[in-house]
Amino acid sequence: MLEARGKETVVRQRYAAGAKERADKLCCPVDYDSQYLKVIPREVIERDYGCGDPTRYLREGEVVVDLGSGTGKICFIAAQIVGPKGKAIGIDMTDEMLEVARRNAPVVAERIGYANVEFRKGRIQDLALDLELLDRQLKENPTTSAASFLAADELAEELRVKHPLIVSDSVDVVVSNCVLNLVEPKSKRQLFDEIFRVLKKGGRAVISDIVSDEEVPEEMQNDPELWSGCISGALTEGGFLSAFENAGFYGIQVLKRDVEPWRTVQGIEFRAMTIEAFKGKQGECFERNQAVIYRGPFKEVRDDDNHRMVRGKRYAVCDKTYNLYKKAPYREFFEFVDPIVDRPLSEAKPFDCSRTTLRHPKETKGQDYSATTDVNNRCCDGGSCC
Ligand SMILES: C[S@@+](CC[C@H](N)C(=O)[O-])C[C@H]1O[C@@H](n2cnc3c(N)ncnc32)[C@H](O)[C@@H]1O
Repeated sequence: MLEARGKETVVRQRYAAGAKERADKLCCPVDYDSQYLKVIPREVIERDYGCGDPTRYLREGEVVVDLGSGTGKICFIAAQIVGPKGKAIGIDMTDEMLEVARRNAPVVAERIGYANVEFRKGRIQDLALDLELLDRQLKENPTTSAASFLAADELAEELRVKHPLIVSDSVDVVVSNCVLNLVEPKSKRQLFDEIFRVLKKGGRAVISDIVSDEEVPEEMQNDPELWSGCISGALTEGGFLSAFENAGFYGIQVLKRDVEPWRTVQGIEFRAMTIEAFKGKQGECFERNQAVIYRGPFKEVRDDDNHRMVRGKRYAVCDKTYNLYKKAPYREFFEFVDPIVDRPLSEAKPFDCSRTTLRHPKETKGQDYSATTDVNNRCCDGGSCC
């Protein structure tokens, strides 16, 4: 049986070897934008073990963290898209991968004319713990007894708080390419919580990974070759999206799903999928008399806060929801109705977001609203539009 620690050790050993020499079995062909590959050294490109391209969804100026950065390709592409005002930080637990990535970072920096990439050692399910810092401290106080083992545990906790590898609420976009499936089942929940923790409010995760069309049976999960080969640790398509939902994300959507499976094992299809998920729906709800109208095309929709809306009807929403809907990924699906008289947030009363209620037009216009426009003056103006 491949125990939890066994899984991680197997993964580390396999990717340590994959950093030294290209492992064809781990490669899943990906169509990266060729303009960004020109400056990336060959040994990095050759050791590409990704399955998708989350960098296609990045923007200039963003701070990006890449989970399981391997030899660095995604960070080097991201570096060019986010530009000198942005930054890319790669996280990996395998020394051999970090060595290749770090050695090539100055080469890429010289070619693009700025240095905005760095690689840090850590486990992606524990983004607070800087493993190199812990290593240095443990060398000074080696673990030689049960007491020093417990002290090491305390030290790790102290480092997480005082010197986190990635600070909370500090990242615009967390990306990853074919890595989340490698994290052992018992740490998966913590992994999604960590992605959520490090993102800024308004930030997003853009993750490419292998997913399965059916649950993966336990005996397949216990196969070290299938596990470390990015196959049997895969979540189902639905399970992958739910994991983001359970961690508190909203607006989760599939950006790309490969039609053809990458591998089929015992009748289960494993394919690449790229998803996007947003952080920022948490917070208090205030009434500012705003309303939204769902434009369609579906008859009805429900968001991640359980607001259920029928196409074409006018709904009361709190200020927080109103502003969330004004941004991606919702913006194009709604019409926005501002109240005629603005109620400043400082004077707004709490709004009950636990149910969805219709908003009568008079609530936004005001009960005394009695305007009548002269249609002829407004739009016909000598023309023939009426
Ligand atoms: C399939 S490779 C993908 C590498 C890279 N993203 C790419 O596109 O080529 C997986 C990488 O994730 C790293 N990795 C796997 N599990 C990890 C974990 N729990 N924490 C940190 N790194 C991990 C491995 O060392 C390896 O470099």
